[in-house]
Amino acid sequence: MEKLEQLYEGKAKKVYKTDRPDEFIIEYKDDATAFNGEKKGSIGGKGVINNKMTGVIFTMLEEKGIPTHFIKVLSEKEQLVKAVTIFPLEVIIRNTAAGSICKRLGLEEGLKLKSPIFEFCYKNDDFGDPVINDYHAIAMELATAEEIEVIREMTFKINDILKAYFLEKGINLVDFKIEFGKTNDGQIVLADEISPDTCRFWDVETNEKLDKDRFRRNLGHIEDLGHIEDLGHIEEAYEEMLKRVQA
Ligand code: TMP
Repeated sequence: MEKLEQLYEGKAKKVYKTDRPDEFIIEYKDDATAFNGEKKGSIGGKGVINNKMTGVIFTMLEEKGIPTHFIKVLSEKEQLVKAVTIFPLEVIIRNTAAGSICKRLGLEEGLKLKSPIFEFCYKNDDFGDPVINDYHAIAMELATAEEIEVIREMTFKINDILKAYFLEKGINLVDFKIEFGKTNDGQIVLADEISPDTCRFWDVETNEKLDKDRFRRNLGHIEDLGHIEDLGHIEEAYEEMLKRVQA
């Protein structure tokens, strides 16, 4: 199988065509951004870690009946996936309040939610990935009502599987963002990645953050973060998460 021209470059990954029409290669990058690209940096070793972790988790999810785009890891930073067209939706589940929902609704960080919250964001950087609902998605033809039902059902199932999986590893799955795609033969599958870039992982014992919030909140040159704690040791947190997933 041959790696052909680049199809797309995102903030954290590149996608390449292959000589097979139904398969793409994804290359993970060390680049990291936050606050809709306002904060830019890089996390040493992130590409390798996120590639490996996504491989392990997508394999586990497949075994539990969730269809994904994942085929196999090819190298340190590359994986082979089924070619899909990504729905322009960021699908978020929150089990514990953190991040944007605290700002938006005045919830205290760490509040255990009575039931999981399901959110859609419209994947569009020009508008800062705004929160939308089913009606927007259907009216804007981002997905059909039937597709949304499939996506929602799969997402809650994925949450149940991931919550239990991470709890066994001493991790509270606070929230996560996933994406879905459609294969050339019309199947809806889980796509993109599941990694410390796209989830909030808190140690069950200490509540230590083992995810990208350490980068988001590494004060560096950002002035408008207010009084929140300054976090560092980003690489170590990513490595710790990979270690727990591989254990
Ligand atoms: P939020 O609290 O900033 O809305 O983030 C919710 C979850 O989604 C969190 O686990 C981080 C993840 N996320 C992404 O994967 N990509 C993004 O662009 C954003 C804003 C959040």
